[in-house]
Amino acid sequence: MKFDTPATTNPIDRLKVVGQPLDRIDGPLKTTGTAPYAYERHDVVADPAYGHVVGAAIAKGRIQRMDLAAARHAPGVLAIVTAANAGTLDKGSFNTARLLGGPDIEHYHQAVALVVAESFEQARAAAELVRIDYAPEPGSFNLRAAAGSATLPHENDITGPAETHVGDFTEAFARAPVTLDETYTTPDHSHAMMEPHATLAQWDGDRLTVWTSNQMIAWANADLAKTLGLPKEKVRVVSPFIGGGFGGKLFLRADVLLAALGARAAGRPVKVALQRPLIANNTTHRPATIQRIRLGAERDGTITAIAHESLSGDLKGGGPETAVNQTRLLYAGRNRMTAMRLAVLDLPEGNAMRAPGEAPGMMALEIAMDEMAEKLGLDPVEFRIRNDTQVDPENPQRPFSSRPFIECLRLGAERFGWSARSPRPGQRREGQWLIGMAMAAAFRNNLLMKSGARVRLDKAGRVTVETDMTDIGTGSYTIIAQTAAETMGVPMEQVVVRLGDSEFPVSAGSGGQFGANNATSGVYAACVKLREEVARRLGFNSREAEFSDGEVRVGNRTIALGAAAAEGEIVAEDFIEYGDLDKTHQQSTFGAHFVEVAVDRATGEARIRRMLAVCAAGRILNPKSARSQVIGAMTMGAGAALMEELAVDTRRGFFVNHDLAGYEVPVHADVPHQEVIFLDETDPFSSPMKAKGVGELGICGVGAAVANAIYSATGVRIRDYPITLDKYL
Ligand code: MOS
Repeated sequence: MKFDTPATTNPIDRLKVVGQPLDRIDGPLKTTGTAPYAYERHDVVADPAYGHVVGAAIAKGRIQRMDLAAARHAPGVLAIVTAANAGTLDKGSFNTARLLGGPDIEHYHQAVALVVAESFEQARAAAELVRIDYAPEPGSFNLRAAAGSATLPHENDITGPAETHVGDFTEAFARAPVTLDETYTTPDHSHAMMEPHATLAQWDGDRLTVWTSNQMIAWANADLAKTLGLPKEKVRVVSPFIGGGFGGKLFLRADVLLAALGARAAGRPVKVALQRPLIANNTTHRPATIQRIRLGAERDGTITAIAHESLSGDLKGGGPETAVNQTRLLYAGRNRMTAMRLAVLDLPEGNAMRAPGEAPGMMALEIAMDEMAEKLGLDPVEFRIRNDTQVDPENPQRPFSSRPFIECLRLGAERFGWSARSPRPGQRREGQWLIGMAMAAAFRNNLLMKSGARVRLDKAGRVTVETDMTDIGTGSYTIIAQTAAETMGVPMEQVVVRLGDSEFPVSAGSGGQFGANNATSGVYAACVKLREEVARRLGFNSREAEFSDGEVRVGNRTIALGAAAAEGEIVAEDFIEYGDLDKTHQQSTFGAHFVEVAVDRATGEARIRRMLAVCAAGRILNPKSARSQVIGAMTMGAGAALMEELAVDTRRGFFVNHDLAGYEVPVHADVPHQEVIFLDETDPFSSPMKAKGVGELGICGVGAAVANAIYSATGVRIRDYPITLDKYL
């Protein structure tokens, strides 16, 4: 189905099932521990061998000598895989560093060997016996120090242009009566998902099956085949349940490749989980940024000049953190400039983490907006309202498909009790606590991706959906079932959803908050095709046929849906693909975050007291799972504001705090009260579902709202995340 004209009324709009806050259909599997995760696939392979990964102990240089003799003779050892014996491997399409390093080492904890043994303990013990002599080389590990050598990043579809210019920023900034010029820094972040990267691999002749934990099945399938030099058809990737990804599982990681190589070397199935202390340096992370923002405005608050420059680093050949993205779209202003610079760093590979670009970009921009409002003597909500734009400010002929940003700001202010806020910081006290209240905008783009699905109807009237879409803890199973139930007119109990298998039609996958809208649209397209086939078999005109209550009706004729499949199952397959609607209209999601904090006057301890997010993200397919997405994202934003930071050892070139003891994330006590309000909105330009992404909108802006609230409480402005108390005491 091609979606190239704005959506009109369609079966989804009945909203009997779609839009309901239904419980997750996979909930019981998860809460009873019976959801099959990759490392626990006893159901498919009874007796696998175990692989343990050895990570490089230097950041840059060469392996001079590898002594495997002791490890090879250790109890239970079946095979040891290294770059020297793995045969020719392609680097693959998505990763910057090779997944199996040696003799050249590209980053600390790059995998250099896999030891395969009968038991996990034997593999781990033998891995300790691998002796490696390195010839280390000096590397570049310090972003600030590398700033001078930074260059323009390579432009592509994901990063967008390296620079944009509209009007004459320099001139307008020089003339503006009120200006701000500040620099903000965000650190490296780790995905820190619950389930480590894990894979069980099995060869059947020259056919490979991997049960793994991956967000993007078709990408993994293509890249694993490419890396191993196999045709895609010989590789099957299965990933029905994923214990969190946050972008860390968008691409193949070492566990997948090494499990496949280990299984080939050992001649039996092998499973590999990356050990927790390896993950931060072995896999990817959100890169640190140094961001300079300049704002110039008239005294009435009209922005006349806006510039955002961002510096980030990555391995040679890598990409930038696109932290200027939102500044190209969020506020009006006739004279504008954005620029990204990329420095070569020999730290582990930087890559996508939840809302790449906007998450760290909004952490900077939205403090700057708070500071500028104060300089102007304007309420920060009002300042943002005065600079709203209904068109893409870099391309004024392009309107937004929908943009109820002002409604989000106003509703949030009303619900949060904004009128009680003191415009001067440090005014409100409750005993030992200084109380601060602040806000920030939320903004994240909405991406359209081709997405396919297959639906089957059996004679019992049961509808089975098959798509390679993944559920990374987001609720995909449930919203896909709701979509099929609505379109086919059957109760939820009559829908079976099967996800995460490369034998199913290729979907959008889970990333960039594009999963829900696109994957359900693909399912909708396949169901529309199934409806046509059902009508044809029953001798109905498909335009007139009504599908509801497990029946098909035309006029006074009513037939059970399953009757169409009396002669055998009916199968329909289709995909959604898009025309130019997202080129003629800018598609984004909007919101506002409000935060109240308390800061201890003596110790500086900061506690978040209340958080509110108002979100405009098109139709909300399931308010319960969408709310879970947003409160999770708000929690992640609170972590970014107050505690999350990969500490860089700038001499040795690695992240020091590489486990969940050293890399702190928020716990329940850190985030006591969260509220989420969804605007009642549909976007006819986004898809037949009229929905948009929401899972990343929820993190964008939260960090700045917390930072602004700490300023409101204390009067100390911190521009360097995380905002730990040593920075303001
Ligand atoms: Mo997201 S960072 O595209 O999983």
